[in-house]
Amino acid sequence: MFRVATNRFQRHGADGSDTTADAGRWPEDLHGESQSPSVWISRCLTEPELASHFSLLSADEISKSRTLRLPGDRERYLTSRTLLRLALSLTVASRLHPSAWRFSLGRFGKPEVSPGLPAAGFNLSHAGSLVVIAIDPTSPIGVDVEKLDGLGAADIPASVLSPRERSLLDRCDEATRAREFVRLWTLKEAHAKRAGLGVHLDFSSFDLDWQPGRETQMIDTNDGALESRTIRTSDGLYQVSVALSPVRDPRSVSWREVGIGDLARPWLTDLEAVPCQQVA
Ligand SMILES: CC(C)(COP(=O)(O)OP(=O)(O)OC[C@H]1O[C@@H](n2cnc3c(N)ncnc32)[C@H](O)[C@@H]1OP(=O)(O)O)[C@@H](O)C(=O)NCCC(=O)NCCS
Repeated sequence: MFRVATNRFQRHGADGSDTTADAGRWPEDLHGESQSPSVWISRCLTEPELASHFSLLSADEISKSRTLRLPGDRERYLTSRTLLRLALSLTVASRLHPSAWRFSLGRFGKPEVSPGLPAAGFNLSHAGSLVVIAIDPTSPIGVDVEKLDGLGAADIPASVLSPRERSLLDRCDEATRAREFVRLWTLKEAHAKRAGLGVHLDFSSFDLDWQPGRETQMIDTNDGALESRTIRTSDGLYQVSVALSPVRDPRSVSWREVGIGDLARPWLTDLEAVPCQQVA
């Protein structure tokens, strides 16, 4: 099992009472549509597990997966597309079968819902054994996940940091510096992905009010808010950051760790619905 390291945000009413919403709680009605942003986190399914969900995917997606040589890349690609379709149907248009979604690419390659379908902002990211989808039914959104271990401080490309970020990192010891860089990186990447710019944004050109050492962070920028959380899985720690449009309050995001088999069951025939283990 994995868990979101901090699953609840403290919110205080005018009288100081805790009005925190239970962000990790699954909604009463699985098929409820929502106007709030959501982040969907799943472990990557194996190829045999994915085979029972092929009816949810498009022929193009299945053929694209066949061009990916490494099994891990194929699994990440297919899992992310399956989860994306399920999450869109669950949050944006419950009457639309997950297989009915169609996607096109924005100017710098950001996938978008095709014209003619219910509009929604979404973005996806995958790393290691984790797949993450972010959906905002009314605004563009960006998400990034990276594994927190595995990077040495020597690998850190200084050119992507602002002077203030570099000086904060320089004050950390070597092990912390590598981990904090990954956190900062996911925040910047999510920000760039919300804008749809990807590598076309100069990461050193903007400075985030990020604080080393915090597993969960909420950051306000002039150009939208960011939230970042650490996720613990059986194969290590991951950092997930989500970037919201300026009209959004980061406290409105619901974070959901999901089992794709359970989500998909209502849309699969009995023959297809091979039991699929929960997040492990
Ligand atoms: C795609 C990109 C935005 C991020 O890639 P990444 O971090 O390697 O991979 P992620 O798993 O987080 O995201 C990949 C997904 O982002 C989406 N994506 C692709 N282009 C995008 C864009 N311009 N904006 C937002 N999302 C995009 C796609 O859905 C893609 O997954 P898919 O190909 O399976 O559909 C890409 O621009 C990139 O490689 N960025 C790296 C930044 C970098 O190297 N900067 C240089 C400074 S050193």
